[in-house]
Amino acid sequence: MLLWFESFWNRLSHNIEIARYCKSMPSLEMRLSKGPAAATSTSFELPSHGSIPLSDIWAGPTFADEPAFASFLADLVQAALGGEVLLEFPPYKTPHISTPGVWNLTGDAAFAAEFPLSWNYLNPRSPNYELKRFQRRLYLERLAPWLEHLPKGTSILDLGGGIGRFSEAWMQRGWNVTLADPNNHALLLALSHLISTGGRFNIYHLAAEDISPLPDEHFHAVSAMEVFCYLSEPRTGIAEAARVLRPGGWLFASVESPIGALEPHIRHSREAINQALTHDHRAIENDMWVRYFTPDSLRAEVESVGLEVEAVIGTHYLPDGPMHHLVDVERLGESGYETALIELERLLQDSQQWQDAARAWVVVARKPQ
Ligand SMILES: C[S@@+](CC[C@H](N)C(=O)[O-])C[C@H]1O[C@@H](n2cnc3c(N)ncnc32)[C@H](O)[C@@H]1O
Repeated sequence: MLLWFESFWNRLSHNIEIARYCKSMPSLEMRLSKGPAAATSTSFELPSHGSIPLSDIWAGPTFADEPAFASFLADLVQAALGGEVLLEFPPYKTPHISTPGVWNLTGDAAFAAEFPLSWNYLNPRSPNYELKRFQRRLYLERLAPWLEHLPKGTSILDLGGGIGRFSEAWMQRGWNVTLADPNNHALLLALSHLISTGGRFNIYHLAAEDISPLPDEHFHAVSAMEVFCYLSEPRTGIAEAARVLRPGGWLFASVESPIGALEPHIRHSREAINQALTHDHRAIENDMWVRYFTPDSLRAEVESVGLEVEAVIGTHYLPDGPMHHLVDVERLGESGYETALIELERLLQDSQQWQDAARAWVVVARKPQ
């Protein structure tokens, strides 16, 4: 991915790779390489490759609360999103994802190209903003009994973190976030969202199947929301999450249930319904791949890598679930309305009759001490 960066730094005109960014550290490293049109008028020597500290380029203070620094980085990201600069994330090699899981990335890229604002759902102007935000709130409510015990400074890996929906929430708690995702365009959006959130974060271009650049027993927690069900072999990703957890560390993950096979927004043919009733997965070549979990199969996968399951919780009965027609998306954002929906979700989750109609399962598991 080599893109030209011209608007913000138009006199410089060279390729830039951001190697690592942590807003509160002055040691942001950028990998710079001269492009064919390099005509530099900068006060430092451009190395032909390698890295250079940001402080050599940016003369001002590089602290978290320095607005000019944040705005400099935000401009850089905007230029990258506009296709004018290369931002590359460690470990500087393309993650390898096998078929069929890789179809999700192809499908996402096509969706992002056609509906960029829908895909960037952390942007308040996105048509998906309120729904995605509310769904995050729902997850956080369900996870609250565990999250509230994790203090400021908790180190968390947001695996398959996408454009940063959960990383943003973790940073707002004062946690140190590492976001990993194989979709580099998502990482650019995550960079822009997390810059404006403020706090400590790192971003890695990695697939869950192989996060070997991240050390063993390093994180207090791993979140993988709506991720493992999209892997060709979910267990490889779950095992990697377990590896990087410290003893006593927590895994918070969610996966799709078979209800997802009958997505509420599509009209079903007899063939689609039959497929949904008889298969534990759904595959559309070059578009999507998902494996559906039951509470038992989710528990079994997580236990198979040595984690202890504390809870499997049903969620998304209403938004994007089988009772989606009860949600007035226009009213999301009204605090009383959202609270009522969350209570209704709780009733469904506790009900013997409806429990299994969850659209998603959340698992909370712990690495043994
Ligand atoms: C439904 S999105 C969820 C994103 C984010 N966790 C959230 O809840 O907003 C699924 C994410 O999984 C990522 N993904 C797909 N295949 C993956 C893989 N093999 N390893 C890690 N992440 C993957 C996608 O790039 C995407 O960001």
